Amino acid sequence: MSGHLKLAGVAAGYGQVRVLRDIDLEVPAGGLVAVIGANGAGKTTLLRAIAGLIPCAAGTIAFDGTVLARLSDYQIVGRGLAMVPEGGRLFPFMTVLENLELGAYHSGTKPHRKRELADMLELFPILADRRRQMAGSLSGGERQMCAIARALMSRPTLLMLDEPSLGLAPMMVEKVFTLIAGLPRLRGMSVLLVEQNVQDALEMADTAYVLERGMFVKCGAGKDLLDDPEVQGAYLGL
Ligand SMILES: Nc1ncnc2c1ncn2[C@@H]1O[C@H](COP(=O)(O)OP(=O)(O)OP(=O)(O)O)[C@@H](O)[C@H]1O
Ligand SMILES: [Mg+2]
Repeated sequence: MSGHLKLAGVAAGYGQVRVLRDIDLEVPAGGLVAVIGANGAGKTTLLRAIAGLIPCAAGTIAFDGTVLARLSDYQIVGRGLAMVPEGGRLFPFMTVLENLELGAYHSGTKPHRKRELADMLELFPILADRRRQMAGSLSGGERQMCAIARALMSRPTLLMLDEPSLGLAPMMVEKVFTLIAGLPRLRGMSVLLVEQNVQDALEMADTAYVLERGMFVKCGAGKDLLDDPEVQGAYLGL
């Protein structure tokens, strides 16, 4: 099984500003790993560094045994790594269908586009109903579903999601999380989830990491961190 991600001693940031320091992280093939942390902790920066959108100042990122440092973001997608960015970032003046098709822009996935599209419309019936609608007119939950489906169109072996529950009503959060939790089993992929919805994220994660000011301060089984008094005090308001 592929989709194995391993970071060792990674540092990254913006220009002179170092945001992440000494990051060791592993997502096993078929695993669901969560990173939790407050606003500004560096969660989005971490995903950007993995996706090749910002360079690493130190350390290595390996995906299925290949070091990603010399690959472009386009090549990284081609290797099976996809990201659902914060807020989904759909093209608002394009239809749901057009947005989904863009997810399969990589030459390696183009031949499978029709098949994947059919799969996505089956997996997300709400998108099938809305397929000719402009993405900008979708509800928050529908938009998040569309963003996830778009990322899945590239047939990733590792899917990274940046706060997919942000701004969603509790019922919608449950729907989105149920779907995410099922991905490893359903599509044989690994998932790296960044969340501020700590309770739900820890419940579904095999392993979770706590990010504070750009460094991991804790790591453990999701369920163990739920029982950790420090995590409860800082992130669960208990
Ligand atoms: N393009 C940028 N240039 C300079 N600094 C940035 C840039 N993007 C983010 N930062 C800074 O890096 C730090 C980490 O930001 P990041 O977006 O990774 O946090 P986050 O954990 O995703 O927060 P949130 O939960 O609010 O999304 C913050 O201090 C932020 O101001
Ligand atoms: Mg963020």
